[in-house]
Amino acid sequence: MSGKRVLITGATSGIGMETARGLAKLGYSVVLTARDNARGEEARNELVSSTGNKDVEVLFCDLGSFASIRKCAAEYRERFDRLDVLVNNAGVWDFHRQQSADGIERIFAVNYLAPFLLTNLLLDSLKVSAPSRVVNVASGLHQGVLHLDDLELKEGWSGMKAYRQSKLAVILWTRLLSKKLAGSNVTVNCAQPGLMRTNLARDAPWAYRVGFLMFGKRPERGAQSSIYLASSPDVQQTTGEYFKDSQVARSSKESYDMDVAARLWDVSMKIVGLSGK
Ligand SMILES: NC(=O)c1ccc[n+]([C@@H]2O[C@H](COP(=O)([O-])OP(=O)(O)OC[C@H]3O[C@@H](n4cnc5c(N)ncnc54)[C@H](OP(=O)(O)O)[C@@H]3O)[C@@H](O)[C@H]2O)c1
Repeated sequence: MSGKRVLITGATSGIGMETARGLAKLGYSVVLTARDNARGEEARNELVSSTGNKDVEVLFCDLGSFASIRKCAAEYRERFDRLDVLVNNAGVWDFHRQQSADGIERIFAVNYLAPFLLTNLLLDSLKVSAPSRVVNVASGLHQGVLHLDDLELKEGWSGMKAYRQSKLAVILWTRLLSKKLAGSNVTVNCAQPGLMRTNLARDAPWAYRVGFLMFGKRPERGAQSSIYLASSPDVQQTTGEYFKDSQVARSSKESYDMDVAARLWDVSMKIVGLSGK
């Protein structure tokens, strides 16, 4: 057993479930989040029976609600002393505009604001467990610019544009957070899983769904970068990077713009209701 504890969001299906399975097999104590208690329990049972690791627990968290994220983080801190790895995996890809419980465009809220808030709320747990790691699941689909004056894309929303922008935000935030965490021995990197056959395209037009089915690989494959970033000694010191196939890769030109990242940070702090730097 590794003696290390990992928290994984969105481990009820797809890449998150396979990341949880891989880390449970490596002996990690696994805590997963679920937005539905029954599905969370089902995932826990499946992980325990397929890996033989009984140290799997579930916390309720609707990542589309700041109140739920705050409650989940508080519960985590109350129940567990340490957090060695946080994997921000959960994500959505709506093709019909939806709003989070806080009235924010849902793709931006769940894919970016939720991990931003959850990570900030768990930073102390990560710091006391250092060396520790944050793994953010990004995407190859992150091209375009960040619309700082219209992050919810009230003008010209499309599922593709909103998804790309949310993942660009994740990469910008990862790079800036790594700088803010310099010297803390807490690293933060992005994983790009590649196209995987999961439930992500459930709301997509049929042509997309067919594309996912025909060209998507099995989610076990997509989980490899997250498992590598969470556990490999090779990346113990690596931070602020974007990984594809378990190797550092280039992301879009816009994703290196630290002025935009700093402005995004300030706006995000205000939206999620946090203070400080
Ligand atoms: N599949 C791909 O080709 C691909 C490519 C690049 C990046 N990604 C990224 O990989 C990550 C995992 O996606 P996936 O492909 O494995 O899709 P998935 O099978 O749909 O899994 C998404 C997970 O996120 C959870 N989730 C969604 N909305 C939530 C909310 N409001 N609150 C709490 N949990 C929520 C889902 O819970 P439920 O089970 O309750 O729905 C599920 O566990 C995402 O960040 C996605 O953007 C995927």
